[in-house]
Amino acid sequence: MPVIAIIGGQWGDEGKGKVVDMLAEKAKMVIRFSGGDNAGHTVINPYGEFKLHLVPSGVFHPQTICIIGNGVAVNPAVLLEEIEQLQGIGVDTSRLFVSDRAHLIMPYHILLDALEEKQRGGKALGTTLKGVGPAFTDKVARRGIRAADLLDKEVLLARLRLVLEQKNTFLTRVHGAAPLSLEQVYSQYCQYGERLAHFIRETNSMVQETVEKGEMVLLEGAQGTMLDPDFGTYPYVTSSSPMVGGACVGSGLGPSKIDSIFGVFKAYSTRVGGGPMPTELEDETGELIRERAQEYGATTGRPRRCGWFDAVAARFSVQINGFTDIALTRLDILDILSSIKICVGYRLNGENIDYFPSSTAALEKCVPIYEELVGWQTPVDHIRSFEQLPPKAHRYVERLEELLSCPINLISVGSNREQAIIRPQATGLT
Ligand code: IMO
Ligand code: MG
Repeated sequence: MPVIAIIGGQWGDEGKGKVVDMLAEKAKMVIRFSGGDNAGHTVINPYGEFKLHLVPSGVFHPQTICIIGNGVAVNPAVLLEEIEQLQGIGVDTSRLFVSDRAHLIMPYHILLDALEEKQRGGKALGTTLKGVGPAFTDKVARRGIRAADLLDKEVLLARLRLVLEQKNTFLTRVHGAAPLSLEQVYSQYCQYGERLAHFIRETNSMVQETVEKGEMVLLEGAQGTMLDPDFGTYPYVTSSSPMVGGACVGSGLGPSKIDSIFGVFKAYSTRVGGGPMPTELEDETGELIRERAQEYGATTGRPRRCGWFDAVAARFSVQINGFTDIALTRLDILDILSSIKICVGYRLNGENIDYFPSSTAALEKCVPIYEELVGWQTPVDHIRSFEQLPPKAHRYVERLEELLSCPINLISVGSNREQAIIRPQATGLT
């Protein structure tokens, strides 16, 4: 059985949660490998509807071990709340583990996220304000506090004393904010440590053993490739790598251990927060997609910006991740449209280009070049095989495959688990 990475191909919210929940039925393990509770993974299954922020979307399956990997930034309060909610409806959380190498989101990270956004004024990034950026900053700056530190009160106090002094200097002198009390933060995190003690452990041996045994393992991505700090629309990006490289580093599995890499793409585009989005529709079609698909942030409730499928950005995403397969989600949303556009190139400074510019200023100037396809205007939500798709929907999917040079082997046609088409050639699934 394979190791399959499930990676966001666009700007996040592509339906990674649904794909993981669906595939986890056969999986022994699901590992979240990056991001923090900025992620919002909507899962609809027989237990109900959930917006998971930290717990892997495989938690609903009784045989699946769920790991919050070393690459995730964990807010202990959010994790405890999520665990309680799941337990409250009878979901077994005894197979959930948190890597002791995972970094923690601290109260000053949340304060700094808001203060930094305020300072950016009109150039605000539109972060989720969960403290995720400042937490990853501290990880790289080597002043982070890790899950393991919660298990040793002396170590926690020593670490916190050192870090909080720096943070308080920064909070008070740079931002004119009130300092945080060492005693309060320490006692709060000691309590979290006590409550999370049996979840936190060295998870690497468990991960390696499961892979060695040839069991099916899913690597659950957060955010999307266009939000990657290296390849995304910098500085309008997140702070950990949502790409397959991030999956290796954030789970402790080398590239040779990964058998298939599924890029998850919506059949159109959305983005939440600031930054360029060439195919954004600020008209009634954009509004129609938003309302029909209920495109509102699962984490912040913000309306998502909606637009046509951007095949230039998507091709770039396929290349830099090396996707073996594509999972195309929410195809059913397009059912009602008489015409559907795909962006196949950009017009930049009077020239046609077919690549994704690295400069955000250039991307802001790009005008999409569209190809227009006739819509199928009939429901697809009941369809379970590729051949049964209406010919015009078939054509839309095939055109995307041609443009992206990657097979679309999984198609989601509705929010429920069973509303999907898995093609026989899907890598590692059949
Ligand atoms: P899932 O896992 C969509 C966006 C924020 C903002 C930028 C930086 O549900 O796909 P951050 O809080 O990370 O510092 O914000 O990244 N963002 C997401 N957009 N889906 C997500 O996660 C996102 N996580 C962060 O809106 O533009
Ligand atoms: Mg989401």
